[in-house]
Amino acid sequence: MQFGRVKPLDAILATAEKKSLHRSLGWFQLTLFGIGCVIGTGIFVLTSAGAQKAGPGLMLAFAIAGAICIVAALCYAEIAAMVPVAGSAYTYTYATMGEVLAWTVGWALVLEYAVAASAVSVGWSGYFTGTILNEFLGIQLPAFLSGAPLALGGVEGGFINLPAVFIALLITGLLMIGTTESARVNAILVAIKVAALTAFVALTLPSDYFSTDKFNPFLPAGVFGGLGTGVGAVGAAATIFFAYVGFDAVSTAAEETKNPQRNVPIGLIGSLLFCTVFYILVAAGAIGTIGGQPIMGPNGVPFPAGSEELARQCATYAANDLPLVCSNEALAHVLRQIGWSGVGNALGIAAFVALPSVILILLFGQTRVAFVMSRDGLLPESWSKVHPKWKTPHVITAITGSVVAFGAAFLPVGKLADIANAGTLYAFMMVAIAVMMLRKTAPNQPRKFRTPALWLIGPLTIAGTIFLYINLPIDAMLVLPLWGAIGLAVYYAYSRSRSHLGRGIVESHEVEAVTEIEPHTPGTH
Ligand code: ALA
Repeated sequence: MQFGRVKPLDAILATAEKKSLHRSLGWFQLTLFGIGCVIGTGIFVLTSAGAQKAGPGLMLAFAIAGAICIVAALCYAEIAAMVPVAGSAYTYTYATMGEVLAWTVGWALVLEYAVAASAVSVGWSGYFTGTILNEFLGIQLPAFLSGAPLALGGVEGGFINLPAVFIALLITGLLMIGTTESARVNAILVAIKVAALTAFVALTLPSDYFSTDKFNPFLPAGVFGGLGTGVGAVGAAATIFFAYVGFDAVSTAAEETKNPQRNVPIGLIGSLLFCTVFYILVAAGAIGTIGGQPIMGPNGVPFPAGSEELARQCATYAANDLPLVCSNEALAHVLRQIGWSGVGNALGIAAFVALPSVILILLFGQTRVAFVMSRDGLLPESWSKVHPKWKTPHVITAITGSVVAFGAAFLPVGKLADIANAGTLYAFMMVAIAVMMLRKTAPNQPRKFRTPALWLIGPLTIAGTIFLYINLPIDAMLVLPLWGAIGLAVYYAYSRSRSHLGRGIVESHEVEAVTEIEPHTPGTH
């Protein structure tokens, strides 16, 4: 299972900057951190795309995606506590399956982090134009400045999503000058998001508009809509998986956690369970009040979310009569429809305020992975230059931010989320494999957290990620191998010959460390 050079685990551990461990996180802070990373465009915006794929079966989709994330999270936690270094899945793969596969994982993480950041930027843009510009300032931004082109699944007359470009570049600028999110700001933003979603559930579920008839038929597109179609409950699960992306950040905090064996699983599973229950309640509230049946094509199959046909159908509705599946600001739209415009606008403001922090976390993750790859010599070393004053990897941040802004400019949120999911699922699968391999190859390496029942949880993670991947729409599914092929071409044309490991460059602190940490980890040399 190893392809090419394998980076010794000892060297990886030594290359990691020694983290200061004075921050002792408990399970509560960890759970809060998890919720902060996770709740975002998935629930605030993609609820529409999910309903277009599965109708009321969206609730089942949230449960399926949530369950797969929980097993993946348990695998992540072991390796994150054991190899607590920047680069996460890329680094873990380097230590177990070798440089080529590690490169493909790093390359796929661009899809997870950068494309996901584009998706959240577009989600933010929907709330910005709908709530802030439209509702409060009475400004109607022309379609050609506020949406992707119709041919790419955007809107009629759309060309570029300017607000999405703006927020992506603004967050990039903040990251370049060294802004990071403090625990206090995170706690406030979590409170805002949770308050907004709680208000949504409290106003929709007991509302006079709520009727169980709206859940009928529950599965208008079935459970399996057919491979490559991206519809049905599992098709919706593959898209709505996006609503859980970001929890890997919790695993990376394992090293800073008090009693990790107990608190990491509580934090991971706690935040994921909390979000799963919340998401299902929100979906029930939205669908039970204004309905969430898909707009069907002539053959009785829902029009693909983000398709030109669906955009044309949606354009035939008046703004105040828009079905759930057509809205760019799903949750605020539901509240406005049922007579709670003020609260709907407040929810819009909550999304406007809180979504940028999700973009920040994703962009930060991307810059870290690219930074480590550049430090390993696989990407140009000039990219990992640290700015003398700002102390940030400003070159890589600027490059990443430009890519994110470009994606956000021309693609709709559903397509971006599906592409991000493809990359994320691949990375999660590789992490599960890496955890199992390390149990065999480095059995004595200290583990602060051990995945319970790994030989069940690991294979379940692999099966779950493959299952969701093959239920993505065909175009998103194809992006991963295509992107991978481009990546391999870059690897063989550029990176392979420049790899530090390949050129035998061992940094001095790596040499020292080899004598400090388990000198011969079997199988990793
Ligand atoms: N889970 C994050 C979101 O939904 C990425 O925005």
